[in-house]
Amino acid sequence: MPQHIRTAVIPAAGLGTRFLPFTKAVPKELAPVIDRPAIHYVVKEAMDAGIQHIAIVTSPGKEALGEYFKPSPEIDRLMRGRGMEGVADELRQMGEALTFSYPVQAQQLGLGHAVLCAREAVGEEPFAVILPDDLLVGDEPVLAQMLRAWWANPGNYVAVEEVLRERISAYGVVDLAPGGQVDPRTYRLRGMVEKPPAEEAPSNLGVVGRYLLMPQVFDALARTRPGAIGEIQLTDGIARSMEQCPLYAYRYAARRYDCGTPLGLLAASLALALRREDTAAEVRGWLRGYT
Ligand code: UTP
Repeated sequence: MPQHIRTAVIPAAGLGTRFLPFTKAVPKELAPVIDRPAIHYVVKEAMDAGIQHIAIVTSPGKEALGEYFKPSPEIDRLMRGRGMEGVADELRQMGEALTFSYPVQAQQLGLGHAVLCAREAVGEEPFAVILPDDLLVGDEPVLAQMLRAWWANPGNYVAVEEVLRERISAYGVVDLAPGGQVDPRTYRLRGMVEKPPAEEAPSNLGVVGRYLLMPQVFDALARTRPGAIGEIQLTDGIARSMEQCPLYAYRYAARRYDCGTPLGLLAASLALALRREDTAAEVRGWLRGYT
């Protein structure tokens, strides 16, 4: 019987070059999607999936990330006085349901290396990885969907979505094991290829920023040497632990917004504002004005 997944690692130590000059002073994970920082949404997704511990991997200069999740009775009072009970409740609930730790990645040696920096914070147990750039909006938190599949068939999991052929070379692409479909959304894999040319892509399913990983991945990452661009890739570490742990792809039900670029962040804000009761009518009004 596998242990419960208690910790979600959120790698947030990157330089955020696509958001320069904004990221000169502010971590991109704190850029607002409407009124909450992007990282708030993924922490909420983890909490709603029953995660208890969040390990945010940061780098020197990104201490503001820790500030955001520190409880503040004064700000709590201020928000409640201004009719902002909804968000005040969310923050209070995060403070009660979650503990936070902040492992440091001193040098940007890649996503795999960032995850390895969280090893002590996680301990030798299964864990989740959530990339804060990928905002997934749906009826059920994607991490909760994946955890259900993981309980039925433990192993390493990558979240995937269908990607258009002309965009597939920007993704890690999964290679399905023949006859390996476990249920309508879960597939056993025989491998993964990082950013293949479209004609060599083994499927149309691209890896998106949610993973459930067994602790053996830490050993594999520790053995992985930096690849072509001098970085330790997470997918290499996962692929290297395939002999010890089965690997699955989970095709989630949700809409993805890529908050890793300024325009993607704008699209995410608009989409969420159109879904939110307090903002939808006003935003629809503006959009009519632009067309
Ligand atoms: P990206 O490749 O998008 O890099 O990282 P970035 O620094 O965030 O943004 P750009 O490309 O310079 O604009 C994907 C995720 O992995 C984390 C990032 O913080 C982001 O959440 N990451 C990446 C690390 O934590 N450490 C690294 O060494 C690299």
